[in-house]
Amino acid sequence: MPRTLITSAIPYINGIKHLGNLIGSQLPADLYARYVRARGHEVMFICATDEHGTPAELAAKKAGKPVAEYCAEMWQVQKDLADGFRLSFDHFGRSSSPQNHRLTQHFAGRLDEAGLIEERSERQVYSKADGRFLPDRYIEGTCPNCGYERARGDQCENCTKQLDPTDLIAPRSAISGSTDLEVRETKHLYLLQSKLRDRLDAWIDGQEGWPVLTTSIAKKWLHDGDGLQDRGITRDLDWGIPVRKGDVPWPGMEGKVFYVWFDAPIEYIAGTAEWADATGGDWERWWRADKGAEDVRYVQFMGKDNVPFHTLSFPATILGSGEPWKTVDYLKSFNYLNYDGGQFSTSQGRGVFMDQALSILPADYWRWWLLSHVPESSDTEFTWARFQADVNKDLADVLGNFVSRVTKFCRSKFGEAVPEGGAWGEAERALVARLAEGLTRYEGHMDAIEIRKAAAELRGLWVAGNEYLQEAAPWSTFKTDPDLAAMQIRLGLNLIRFYAVLSAPFIPDAAQAMLRAMGDEGAGWPDDVDDALAALGPGHAFAVPEVLFAKITDAQREEWEARFAGTRA
Ligand code: 2FM
Ligand code: ZN
Repeated sequence: MPRTLITSAIPYINGIKHLGNLIGSQLPADLYARYVRARGHEVMFICATDEHGTPAELAAKKAGKPVAEYCAEMWQVQKDLADGFRLSFDHFGRSSSPQNHRLTQHFAGRLDEAGLIEERSERQVYSKADGRFLPDRYIEGTCPNCGYERARGDQCENCTKQLDPTDLIAPRSAISGSTDLEVRETKHLYLLQSKLRDRLDAWIDGQEGWPVLTTSIAKKWLHDGDGLQDRGITRDLDWGIPVRKGDVPWPGMEGKVFYVWFDAPIEYIAGTAEWADATGGDWERWWRADKGAEDVRYVQFMGKDNVPFHTLSFPATILGSGEPWKTVDYLKSFNYLNYDGGQFSTSQGRGVFMDQALSILPADYWRWWLLSHVPESSDTEFTWARFQADVNKDLADVLGNFVSRVTKFCRSKFGEAVPEGGAWGEAERALVARLAEGLTRYEGHMDAIEIRKAAAELRGLWVAGNEYLQEAAPWSTFKTDPDLAAMQIRLGLNLIRFYAVLSAPFIPDAAQAMLRAMGDEGAGWPDDVDDALAALGPGHAFAVPEVLFAKITDAQREEWEARFAGTRA
């Protein structure tokens, strides 16, 4: 049985995520996980909350709670929303878990033994107004690379360059806005990534068929300018993973913690260890080549801003450890989803957030629109008008309408069991041939994680069934040849089952409702379209399902447009 390990970038703990975050990693990862499971793979799908760093500390402070308590509560909130969107994680972990503490300290110890860590006296920005060292993200200024004026100290959002805060031109505190900053000496650990440059270069060259967006970003930071920089991996903060060398203290590093970007990707491994501790499973067979993970295919999902950390920093940790850890086999990255003429923004509360989305419509509406418009080759824009038009057409007019017409017609003319009728004729054989070709293309796009193409192909399969029904017109053939109408409707009922199985990765709830109505909840992936379309034989009981997708009305659209026009309090 093929084995697939899937990780989604782990969302920051500080607040509810917006739809741009959702479609930038977790939702496409879920689509793929559901698909490969349906194709018979053994899957381990891991996500978690990213709980360390200053954003978490500041959000807790704002909420008036101890940071550990704040994180525990927000983890539950994020977990419930993930469930609401039907994200099928095998485990939704926490980067603050004991498992991650142990593994992060373990990796740091191994890197030190390999001579890849150096203690350096660092000049770090201290804000007198805030009474603290300012972590990278909380210093804003002008990017020395592209001139963007709101670049953060860790990375420029505009050109994706990884930065050090002292690189910024005209820096200011993002907490207080104060420019009364001074540079003070503090000791930190540096990961000597420059020593790993050739190994990383060779590792990236050895990857076959990675998306251009992924390799171009990686190569850019390996070769442009000064190339791969050594990275500070510790911080002067209270909240985080204490700096230790494996399980022994690290002299001189007392009171410091690891940098959030050092421990966050290690949580992919630790999250699997959390899963193992909770279920009695074996996590090493997913992660260690010496413990059975050689044949695992590891696929990562993330937004483009995360690519440098996953193609350079995390592999540096893994390769540098000298241990046989699994590295990523395929890295799928995404552009940004914009909101109605601007950007989604957590800090400004702009756009639609996961809780709000679920409060107005079921998950499948969002899943279908977001996945079929996923920003794969360029940024995409969400507008309420497009959302309304696409959902109404694809889900209500095409798929929902097909299901409703077939089941209601059958109930009224033949009752609630698959009717017998005659054998397939030319039109049916032509349809089946069309569906078989489409299915092969659909599988090809899903295997290649070409999500938009897959969605378009799936929609095409739904349309083909509708067109068949329109032309076959069982409601007229019934008058002259009830046997013919029975055969047509028998095929229609089987098509509902077929569509449910194929559509489940995109719209799992509707798919389940369709299969339940067809009395075949265990239906598996079709090996052969002819067989799949004869699976429900004469006499098999079915039910007319509730309306699968209600149309979004103009009044609803206008109301939502107005409600979500401003910023969230
Ligand atoms: O960009 C983000 O939302 C980060 N929290 C992603 C971390 S992914 C990984 F490193 F774990
Ligand atoms: Zn820049």
